[in-house]
Amino acid sequence: MSYDIDALRKREFPWAARGEAIYFDHASTGPIPTRSRKMIAAMGEKRAEPHRLGAEDYFPVLQRARDRAARLIGANARSIALVTNTSHGVNIAARVLPYGPGDVVLSTHGEFPANVYPWMAAAQERGAEHRLLPLRGDLPDEEALMQAIERDPRVKVVALSWVSYWSGHRFDITKIGTACRERGIFFAVDAIQGLGPLMLDVKSTPIDILACGAQKWLCSPWGVGFTYVREGLIEQLVPSEVGWYAQASSGDFSKFLDYDPTWAHDARRFEVITLDFVHFAGMAESIGLFLELGPAAVAAHVRSLGDRAVAFADATPAVTLVTPREPERRAGVLAFRMADVAAASERLKAARVTHSVREGCIRLAPHFYNTMAELDQVLELLPG
Ligand SMILES: Cc1ncc(COP(=O)(O)O)c(C=O)c1O
Repeated sequence: MSYDIDALRKREFPWAARGEAIYFDHASTGPIPTRSRKMIAAMGEKRAEPHRLGAEDYFPVLQRARDRAARLIGANARSIALVTNTSHGVNIAARVLPYGPGDVVLSTHGEFPANVYPWMAAAQERGAEHRLLPLRGDLPDEEALMQAIERDPRVKVVALSWVSYWSGHRFDITKIGTACRERGIFFAVDAIQGLGPLMLDVKSTPIDILACGAQKWLCSPWGVGFTYVREGLIEQLVPSEVGWYAQASSGDFSKFLDYDPTWAHDARRFEVITLDFVHFAGMAESIGLFLELGPAAVAAHVRSLGDRAVAFADATPAVTLVTPREPERRAGVLAFRMADVAAASERLKAARVTHSVREGCIRLAPHFYNTMAELDQVLELLPG
């Protein structure tokens, strides 16, 4: 179960095949594969001269994007709302889940602010407590989190990033989600740093709402993403933002003036139209690439890159790997500390290695088309 990386690079990421750069920054912004670029260019041309647009360029494009996002996570397309970014999905969760005075929204320190501020604001408005559990060292304390879920009856929502944007720590969302489901606690997941390098099947992982921008690891344009809402929950939740396409009757353009406020029975009730048809067409192509290669094969490749980084760190006293060593505790984000992080970053820049510095670490974020040879070259530049 693998794919031909050289052929993939030539076909979808020709700049990488030509060695223009070593791009290890998928935790910031993903590159766009050739197939999606072509789709975006063709759609963009038509958009500029809209008499060339056909009915198939509008709502069927969005349905294709929903269908493919759904397939990626083992969901029914009814559960997918298209959104413009992760924050929008987190806001949906924070605003529509039922919790109130005295309830606790549980999370941990170290979260990216996109998964903090919406909860903080919504909890404050409702008289609920937004509780951030302290880290243990650099990483979340999953034991303390499980204890709070199991012992504190005030916990009503657990809101976590599947994978940390900076340390690369991965929560065991199946275990946490199962504990939440058993207790009637809502489980909301920010999946942007996990989905792509990791596989997910929401049929076996109890999640109530999942927010995911597609601009990073799903190699899609800016301004596109999706939110999954568990099917049994959708009709219990009332959208906080109301668009003209969120109603059950809104697909019928002969009924605009009926003003029937009955919500769509699927997750479309959370969408705020008009969306960017051009770039959602691009997202559908990019997710299509993942589906074609096989999410399992992609995950296996990213894991093998991580394994190599762990082995390197083990053999190199001058660097410390902050990311957990165990494969089931990491995804694609690899965080390293060394004596002089700024100097290491300069060495990487000089070698045209695109990376980030986050929370005092060099963050490397290689993906499914990066090679072991690229990784080896990059790792050698870290010590010092
Ligand atoms: C965990 C996490 N959530 C969300 C985001 C980005 O949010 P948005 O897609 O709303 O820009 C990032 C980006 O770094 C992130 O790391």
